[in-house]
Amino acid sequence: MLDGEYGPAKATAMKLLVTIGDVFEASRLVGIKSAQVSGVSYKNVGDAGLHFIQKLRDMGAEVSVPTTLNPAGMDLLRWKEIGFERSFAKKQLRIANAFEKMKIIPTYTCTPYLVGNCPARGEHIAWAESSAIAYANSVIGARTNREGGPTSLACAITGKTPLFGLHMEDGRTPSHVVDVEFKISKPIEYSLLGYTIGKIGGLKIPFIRGEFHPSTDELKALAAALGASGAIPMFHMEDFTPESGDASKHLNECEGLEVEKRDIKQTLEELTTNGEADFVCIGCPHCSISELKSISKILRGKKVSKELWIFTSRHNREVAEKKGYLDEIEGAGGKVISDTCMVVSPLEGFGFTSVMTNSCKAAHYLPSTCGLKTNLLELRQCIDSAVIH
Ligand code: F3S
Repeated sequence: MLDGEYGPAKATAMKLLVTIGDVFEASRLVGIKSAQVSGVSYKNVGDAGLHFIQKLRDMGAEVSVPTTLNPAGMDLLRWKEIGFERSFAKKQLRIANAFEKMKIIPTYTCTPYLVGNCPARGEHIAWAESSAIAYANSVIGARTNREGGPTSLACAITGKTPLFGLHMEDGRTPSHVVDVEFKISKPIEYSLLGYTIGKIGGLKIPFIRGEFHPSTDELKALAAALGASGAIPMFHMEDFTPESGDASKHLNECEGLEVEKRDIKQTLEELTTNGEADFVCIGCPHCSISELKSISKILRGKKVSKELWIFTSRHNREVAEKKGYLDEIEGAGGKVISDTCMVVSPLEGFGFTSVMTNSCKAAHYLPSTCGLKTNLLELRQCIDSAVIH
């Protein structure tokens, strides 16, 4: 591949991977089962990214393993009715078309594991998107380093990745034991816990223990928050994550930390920059079917008085439509938007000043990426605040 025998696109991709492998002293390459490619939103990648992706497409690049895509900068099917600008849409559609020409599955979601790209424990994968990386390594037990847009694409094209870091057994041992000194009682506390652990700094892989019983949606929120505040690619959770048994053998080599209720309260205060909100935004990471069902139940027979945007994958939107959840949410005046999210879309152009959300990751990024003030609340409170009483 490196010598160009399989064409210029594979040679370009392999050159990048060999360089990375050399830098990290990887012993060899390893085959991957799937890839998740980021760098899809025109807002994030700009013209330079658009040209890079188009150049690879023009070289004949095609992915050689099942590959899914991160969110784009707009709902690719309903961008006009939502109000995205035509000039932005033109460039965004070019990016999407180039990726789809490479035979990437047009999922446009940060939760690929909910829409068919779900590896098995121990499988090597090459995923970008910090929340999905932490979820795949920790909850599924698949193996990926923290890939970026170009490296995940290079892995997808070649079907290989350099063998180092989280692909190795010893790259997955815990660095810290984190004792949670309170009983988690609300879903948002998983997001707050993840964000609080991530911001401690210097943590590589935390081993979390305490009194909790998370659902997969709560683990999704925890993984996203750890990735947002601390770029943490993996965690172990006693009795819940598949490698926690093996990881527990290393606890005597770990540094110990404690998180108390007052620590997560402090995180909540830090991420709340405004008391009012003119906009309610849910779905970071993208909503699962069960979350869409819960939202539809809260909204049944009600009407919203402010903008309520709910982000999910196009796959889950279609399922929600068949199940009748979409009718209930949109009948109440909410919008269910797919292919994009609040952070990677140009929300700043919609005239909002302050947002209410249930995601620490969204509250972390929205002030800088979209210039919005933030309010962090439980899902039910967020939806209730949008409803006319
Ligand atoms: Fe997903 Fe966007 Fe949040 S990519 S994790 S919804 S910032």
